[in-house]
Amino acid sequence: MAATLVPDEPGQPPKLAQDVLASKAPKASAVDQVINPFEVSGGVDEAGKALAIDFDKIVRDFGATPMSPEILQRFERVTGKRPHRLMRRGMVSSHRDLDKMLDRYEKGEPFYLYTGRGPSSDSMHVGHAMPFELTRFLQEAFNCPLVIMLTDDEKFMHSEKITIEDAKRYTVENAKDIIAMGFDPQKTFIFSDFDFMGGAFYENICMIAKHVTINQIKGTFGFDDSTNIGKFHFPATQSATAYATSFPHIFGPDKTKVRTIPCLIPCAIDQDPYFRQCRDRAEKMKHKKPALLHMIFLPALQGPGSKMSASVSTSAIFLSDKPNEIKNKINRYAFSGGQDTAEKQKELGGRTEVDVPYQYLTFFLEDDDELARIRDDYESGRMMTGEIKKICIQYVQDFVADFQERRKKVDESVRADFFARKPLLFQGKTAEEVLNELEEKKKQEKAEKKAKADAEKAAAKAAAPASKPDAAPTGDDAKGHRKTTSTVSVGRTRQ
Ligand code: TRP
Repeated sequence: MAATLVPDEPGQPPKLAQDVLASKAPKASAVDQVINPFEVSGGVDEAGKALAIDFDKIVRDFGATPMSPEILQRFERVTGKRPHRLMRRGMVSSHRDLDKMLDRYEKGEPFYLYTGRGPSSDSMHVGHAMPFELTRFLQEAFNCPLVIMLTDDEKFMHSEKITIEDAKRYTVENAKDIIAMGFDPQKTFIFSDFDFMGGAFYENICMIAKHVTINQIKGTFGFDDSTNIGKFHFPATQSATAYATSFPHIFGPDKTKVRTIPCLIPCAIDQDPYFRQCRDRAEKMKHKKPALLHMIFLPALQGPGSKMSASVSTSAIFLSDKPNEIKNKINRYAFSGGQDTAEKQKELGGRTEVDVPYQYLTFFLEDDDELARIRDDYESGRMMTGEIKKICIQYVQDFVADFQERRKKVDESVRADFFARKPLLFQGKTAEEVLNELEEKKKQEKAEKKAKADAEKAAAKAAAPASKPDAAPTGDDAKGHRKTTSTVSVGRTRQ
């Protein structure tokens, strides 16, 4: 469109000149942050300075809802459980439709939890463990089925190095780590994409794939024409797990009923693009939109705004690390928000907002009062850098030691139990039982309502004076009569 001159504002150059000037100006070097499943990096400002990851962007730009004290209070009221420290302290930063899941829980309507992992290495680190820690807690709080997807196909498609055999081996090893987080085998189904592909799951994948265009995938994930087609197709697989009809062995074979069961997905925030796409299409396919809980990342040892990476061993504490390794890594590499000298520390105090040992304590230390005390002491300069590191080392070592104790007990037969295709219980009942009971209850309520309406109608008729057989109904009578087969035109005259 040709640029047109618009009336000048007093003291301002004409609009056209502004446009021309803008196009000639050197391009700002600022770079937007990237948060998608394949890249997580903070932006760069105009001066070239790296910026910390802005987790609120998902809220601002993509319509998620920030977690609020109100919804946490409601969670506690409804489930009778105090929210997990990861929820209380803002690591669960935003959600989509958590309120709807709480409504369902209150009404005894079934839903399931869905989470997953791309098995890209033999050993998982404590950062990988955080969404699973949250999920374990939620399974306990909601007493509901949980599906854990291991996307070995995704990792094969996305890596130059990983072979199919590697990915399958990582799946087995990672599954054992995940199980050792403490999931309930009666309520958990873990699967590998390579292994589980087929049947109802594959039908849903194809249905989703048919509804997604290359343009949508390019826009959401930043792929281009030289990206392999496996990557283009994979989002359909990750989405299909959000449909209960993919799992007839868990929820039963009746697709019409089962597709009324939604899921709640606790995940790291980088997974949101997959599920935004999934939510956009779900209702078109007569499925429920999945609800989401977004988690921020545990920072790398090198500092806030970064993310632990399994391939940079000095950035991460592994679930297989020995106590001494944990100690050395934190002492050597953990970024400190403390001052350079003891004198300065006493005078100025430490900066908890960038101090990695303090940040880790917020993830690992359960006791709110103790955390507040440490924060006060450190910020006021009463606590030295070495001391807070020591406390942090202790809590991380305890977390890893507890994990390793449970991990020892996870052998092949335990693993096989989690991979077995069996019905899973929602509050002690199979989905079929819950759905049938709800249907029964609805029928009963309807019948009761009808009986009550009939009785009221009969009473009104009996009470009406004989000389006025067509007396208009009262407001109360009108209610609830509209759908009856009554010959009296009750309710039709009113709106
Ligand atoms: N794509 C995820 C990863 O690479 C794995 C995954 C699949 C997942 N489904 C999920 C993670 C649901 C969280 C929630 O790790």
